[in-house]
Amino acid sequence: MSGKENFKFKILDFKDLERVMEIERLSNPTPWSIGSFIDCINSNYQNILLIKQEETIGFCISTINFTESHLLNISVHPEFRSQGMGQLLLNKSEQDAKKKGVSDIFLEVRDSNEKAIEFYKKNNYKNVGKRKNYYRLSQGREDGLIFTKHMNLSSLESISRFSLFFLRKMLNFNRG
Ligand SMILES: CC(C)(COP(=O)(O)OP(=O)(O)OC[C@H]1O[C@@H](n2cnc3c(N)ncnc32)[C@H](O)[C@@H]1OP(=O)(O)O)[C@@H](O)C(=O)NCCC(=O)NCCS
Repeated sequence: MSGKENFKFKILDFKDLERVMEIERLSNPTPWSIGSFIDCINSNYQNILLIKQEETIGFCISTINFTESHLLNISVHPEFRSQGMGQLLLNKSEQDAKKKGVSDIFLEVRDSNEKAIEFYKKNNYKNVGKRKNYYRLSQGREDGLIFTKHMNLSSLESISRFSLFFLRKMLNFNRG
């Protein structure tokens, strides 16, 4: 991708919420509320923003639970889609999760969301199941497909990264 130097990542903060809500409303048929994003900040989830020339153009939010991560939301502003931005975000999210000791990522995607399904398949996510009527629609409900990806970590790498992550958590807990 050309012009990569124009992009950077940052952690979602309260002052980013207006723009993030704008992207969310343009991206999801039943958008999250602002309260959901506030919960993500307060819970210290892995909340990554992609910034181009000081403007947020996408975000990726995941929970991290020991060796497992749940990718809750990834969205790119429509003007910036199909230009490799989602890929940048997903790579960053996976790399950061790996550093924290994550080996398996889970996510749900709407049965009809063909672009996102292609996106995950290209990134080696495998469809391992279906949640019947998982998503609310303006009318009715829609099934959710469960996708998962196993990231290869050597057992030594996994233990050392997890220990480091756990130690950092303990230190933060003691400070709090
Ligand atoms: C899914 C989403 C995040 C992808 O971001 P993006 O920036 O458009 O994706 P990228 O340009 O990085 O594309 C990466 C790959 O995804 C697939 N892909 C992306 N857009 C696609 C499209 N319109 N049709 C088919 N495949 C597509 C392709 O395999 C593509 O690789 P390629 O460029 O080598 O062909 C974006 O479409 C989006 O925000 N959608 C709305 C929100 C959403 O549905 N999120 C997922 C919820 S589970």
